[in-house]
Amino acid sequence: MLPCAERVVASISRRLFRSYLSVSSRRRCNITAFMPEAAGFDGVSDRSTLQDFSVSNSEKFWAAAARHRLSWIRTFDAVRDCDLSRGKIKWFEGGKLNVSVNCLDRHVHTCPDKVALIWERDEPGSEVKVTYRELLDMTCRLGNLLRRRGVKRGDCVTIYMPPCPMAVASMLACARIGAAHNVVFAGFSAEALSERIRDAQSSTVITVNQGVRGGKLVELKKTVDEAVQSCPTVQQVFVATRTENPVLMAARDVALDEEMLKEDVVCEPEAMDSEDVLFLLYTSGSTGKPKGLVHTQAGYLLYAALTHRYVFSYQDGDVFGCVADIGWITGHSYTVYGPLANGGTTVLFESTPIYPDPGRYWEMVQRLKINQFYGAPTAIRLLLKYGDQWVRKYDRSTLKTLGSVGEPINTEAWEWYHTVVGDGRCPVVDTWWQTETGGICISPKPSDPDAEIIPGMAMRPFFGIKPVLMDTEGNVQSSSDTSGALCIAQPWPGMARTIHNNHQRFIETYCQPHPGYFFTGDGAYCSKEGYYQITGRLDDVINVSGHRIGTAEIEDVVNQCPVVAESAVIGYAHDIKGEGVFAFAVLKQGVDTQYGDVSQQLKDTVSKKIAKYASPDHIQFVKRLPKTRSGKIMRRVLRKIVEGDLEGLGDLSTLDDPTAVQEIIQGNSELC
Ligand code: WT7
Repeated sequence: MLPCAERVVASISRRLFRSYLSVSSRRRCNITAFMPEAAGFDGVSDRSTLQDFSVSNSEKFWAAAARHRLSWIRTFDAVRDCDLSRGKIKWFEGGKLNVSVNCLDRHVHTCPDKVALIWERDEPGSEVKVTYRELLDMTCRLGNLLRRRGVKRGDCVTIYMPPCPMAVASMLACARIGAAHNVVFAGFSAEALSERIRDAQSSTVITVNQGVRGGKLVELKKTVDEAVQSCPTVQQVFVATRTENPVLMAARDVALDEEMLKEDVVCEPEAMDSEDVLFLLYTSGSTGKPKGLVHTQAGYLLYAALTHRYVFSYQDGDVFGCVADIGWITGHSYTVYGPLANGGTTVLFESTPIYPDPGRYWEMVQRLKINQFYGAPTAIRLLLKYGDQWVRKYDRSTLKTLGSVGEPINTEAWEWYHTVVGDGRCPVVDTWWQTETGGICISPKPSDPDAEIIPGMAMRPFFGIKPVLMDTEGNVQSSSDTSGALCIAQPWPGMARTIHNNHQRFIETYCQPHPGYFFTGDGAYCSKEGYYQITGRLDDVINVSGHRIGTAEIEDVVNQCPVVAESAVIGYAHDIKGEGVFAFAVLKQGVDTQYGDVSQQLKDTVSKKIAKYASPDHIQFVKRLPKTRSGKIMRRVLRKIVEGDLEGLGDLSTLDDPTAVQEIIQGNSELC
C-alpha cells in the first residue's frame, strides 16, 4: 500500500494520463480522418506535426502513403535509394504495379458507372461524359491494338492530340502495355513535333484528323504528315476522328476508331517495375534543345494522387476542372493521373477562355458543377479586363477551391479571382512546381482550413518537401526573410529521374549547381513566417502565358533566317501574358530594315518553327549587340533598356563597344 501522499499523486497522474490519452486519441482521430496512413506515425497529432514528420521521416511517410494509395502487384522491397549529387533517384524498388490498373480497374470494381471524364468540347453545351467502365474499355481496346501493331514494353509512343477522351485512353493504353508516352502539345509546329519524335525515337504516333479550338479547325493530321517526313523511325500513325472532314490517309496511317472496334475489351496489364519509364515530356531549358524529362511509374503516380487530393482538398464525388492542356505537365498530373488515381471526375477542356465569349469558364463551372477550378494567371488577367459581369452571370456556388499555376499571379489578379470568381468564399491556392517536380511542391494547402493565405504567395511546402534558399556563394540561407536560389534538400517520389538520352545534362542542370540539392532554376523569397514566394527564373528561360521557352531556342530560329546575322532575345513584363518576347536582331549587310515585312517574316518563322506563343511581340533591328570583350551578349543591359530603366544599366565597363548601347537606346525610344 502506498503512503497517502503518493496514492494521491498516482491517482492524479493516472487521471492526467487518461485525459492526455483522450486528447491525444482525439487528435489522432482527427489526423487519421485527414490522412488515414498517419495512424502509424509516432508523435503525429495534427497537420503541422504531420508536415514535420513527412520531412524528417520521409521514408516512413512515403512508404505508408505508397501502401495506402496504390494497388501493387508486388509490394516494394526498398522505399528509396537516392543520391542527389549523382542524379540517382529510385523509389519503391522491387515493387510491381500497373498505372492504368491504378487509374481504372480498381475504380471499375467499386463504381463502374461513375463518370471519369467530362470532355468539355469546343462547342459549349456539347460535353461528353465517359464512365470508368467506358474508359477502361477504350483503354484496353487501344492497348490491344497497339500490341497487335507491334508496340512493345519499353517503346515510346508520341501523342499529338488536343484534350479528349481518346488522348487520355492513349496515355493509359501505353501505361497498360508498358510503353512510355510522349505527349506533344498540339499547338507545337511540325518542326517542333518532328524534333521531339526523333529524340524520343518513336515508331508510333497517335493523332486526330483535325482539332477544333475557338471555333476554328486545326489541321493536326497535316502537321503530323509534315513532321514525320523527317522522322525515319516512324512506321505508323494512328488517326482518331474529331471532325467529319476526311483527311488524306497514307500507307502508314491507321484509322484508329475503326481498328479499335475489332479489339477485345480485356487487355492484360503489364507488371511494371516502379522505376520503369511512364512518360517523357519535353520542356525548354536555358540552353540547347528542349529536354525530354523522364518520369517513372510508382513515385510519379503516388505524388500526383497525393497532391491532387490534399492541395485542392479534393473529396470523393467532386468534379475537378483543370483547364490546362494535356500537352503540359499540369494536364498530365492534374487532368489525368492525379484525379484518375483518386477515382475522381475530371474535366478535359478543349476550348479557350474567351470562346464563344469571356464567360466560357464560368458558364462551364455552372453547367458541369465544377468544385475545384485550376487555371493559369494569364487567363485570369485576360478575363479580368473583360469585367465582372461575365463572371456574375453564372452560378459558381459549387466552387470550393480555386487554383493558379504556371507563373506568378499578381495581387490584382489574385484578388479578382478570390473576390469575384470565388465570391470571397474559396481559398485561392497558388501552386508552384515544374515539369521536373512531377507535382505541386509549394502551395498554401494542405494546412488547416483557416490558416492564412497571402495573395501572390505559394506559401508552404507540401508533405515531404524541404525547400532551401541558397545565397550567391552557394550556402544555405539559414535565416528567414531572405531571398535566394530555390533548391529542394531531399528527394521526393514525384521528381523527374533523368533527361531522356542525356543523364549528364540532367546532372549538370539540376544536381551540380548545388551539390546534394535539387536546383529548380527559380529564385524565391522566404518571409519571416517561413512562407515562400517565387520571384522568377534565374536563367534564360522565360514564361509566356505560363508556357516555358528558352530565349536561346528563339534566337536559334531567328539566327537561321538568311537575312539575320545575329540576335538576342529577352523577356519583358507583359500585362496579360506575364512575359512577352522581345528580339533584337542584327541584319546582314545590305538588307533593308525599312521593310516591315522583314519583321513579320521573322515572327512567322518563329511561329512556324516553334509555336505561336514563342513568336516575338517586338523586334528591334540594331547595328550591333552589346557584348563583353569576351563576346558574351549582355542581355541584362537589353532588359533594362526595354524596361526603360536607363539609370539601372549597371556596370558597363566590360562592354566592348559602349556606343552600341546608345544606338539601341535611341532605336528603342523610336520603336516603343
Ligand atoms: C516554371 C515551370 C507548374 C506546372 C506548369 C509549368 C514557373 C510555375 C509557378 C507559380 C510562380 C511559377 C516557374 C517554374 N512557375 N508555377 N505558382 N508561381 N512561378 O511547368 O513549364 O515546367 O514551368 O514555371 O518559373 O520553374 P513548367
